[in-house]
Amino acid sequence: MSRMTDDDATRHEARLLWHANPGLFALLEAARHTGPIARVPRLGWVVTDPVLARRVLNDHGTFTMGGEGGVGHLWTQLFGDEMGEFFGGARHAEVRTRARDLFTEDAARDLVERAQGAHLAQLAGQLADGGSVDVADSARVLGGRLVADLLGLPADRPDDDYRGLFAAGERLAALALGTTASTELAPDLLERAHEIVDGLTTGVPDAYRAAGPDTLLGRCREMGLGLPMARGLATLLVIAGTETGASGTTRTVALLHDTGQQHALLRDPGLTANAVREGLRVAAPAPVIGRHVARDADLAGRALRAGDRVLLLTYRATNGAGPFEVTRDYVPETRQLWFGGGRHLCLGAAVARTQIARMLGALHSTGRPYRVVSRRAARRVLVPSYASLVVKPA
Ligand code: HEM
Repeated sequence: MSRMTDDDATRHEARLLWHANPGLFALLEAARHTGPIARVPRLGWVVTDPVLARRVLNDHGTFTMGGEGGVGHLWTQLFGDEMGEFFGGARHAEVRTRARDLFTEDAARDLVERAQGAHLAQLAGQLADGGSVDVADSARVLGGRLVADLLGLPADRPDDDYRGLFAAGERLAALALGTTASTELAPDLLERAHEIVDGLTTGVPDAYRAAGPDTLLGRCREMGLGLPMARGLATLLVIAGTETGASGTTRTVALLHDTGQQHALLRDPGLTANAVREGLRVAAPAPVIGRHVARDADLAGRALRAGDRVLLLTYRATNGAGPFEVTRDYVPETRQLWFGGGRHLCLGAAVARTQIARMLGALHSTGRPYRVVSRRAARRVLVPSYASLVVKPA
């Protein structure tokens, strides 16, 4: 592998971060030099070390999701106290336990096949005919299809409906772009957020009544969670599961191309799990995780005070291990920090990994490498990604 190709990959990744959110890009650049933990004016504590980051994620008593700085604070403003308290309460553990079987490796394989198999087969067919495909667009449609299926919303609609679901989630998440310094939403932002949520959840009442027990909304009904909470959790799933999944998929495809390492994967498809892990480590689609400091604490010798906020720069923490390397072993310090850690560790991790692996398989199903014909970064989005990444057989 030449130095040049590593540089290409790094340059493209940096462009994605910049176009998504110039403030975040600047913070990530500055944080190269701040050490494992630093206090940044207006923002709070910034953590770049993977082991310290995991310590924060595992200490639920000290570092919480509710309160200024935590994402639970945003949910409270949107769906009320019940949803806000959900993240830190007993209900959270209960919901996770009751939903666990929907997110196992086996369930993930079935779900991805059911929701995405036909679209992926069509994509493979287009490439076999020498045609081009926009991986970014496909990943958005596939993300929408996956979440709709998991929730129990209608799964038999045209692609445009799922593009719409994805776009609504993206618009809602983008409202959080201005919340790096404070998670208090201004009244006009809150009104816009409610409008988007209303559109996003129009199908939820029907699905809540009728969806099968093997869907999330069916489970919500069986648990007696009530419609408002079901709407909140459906929105949470759209926010958590679409943009991150599409970003992880599209950027892994680009990284394999830009580093030239797709050739190693073509030669040895046994490297797929490694390629997926490295793609997620380097792309880190959730580049920042925020927490509220609920009580005074010492972290690596620094005195954190109740009421402070902490920003875990997962992107910096996971990229410390070096550039994308398809044969790199599992990095023990980093573990799977791109999926968070502790009680809120990403519920959809197996689903996310499976869908990326299936996309790589579809792109290489011709037995030939793919080349990127054109690409465009997404602008002003919470999760950095490509608006478009068009590939065709090389
Ligand atoms: C590459 C793709 C993905 C990445 C990088 C990712 C990352 C994350 C991270 C970092 C968290 C923890 C946030 C925090 O602690 O504040 C999280 C939580 C979550 N993710 Fe994912 N995610 C991905 C895909 C998905 C998918 C596909 C689904 C659903 C199908 C999903 C469902 C969830 C849910 C429900 C939570 C909340 C868990 C809780 O609070 O207990 N994620 N994800």
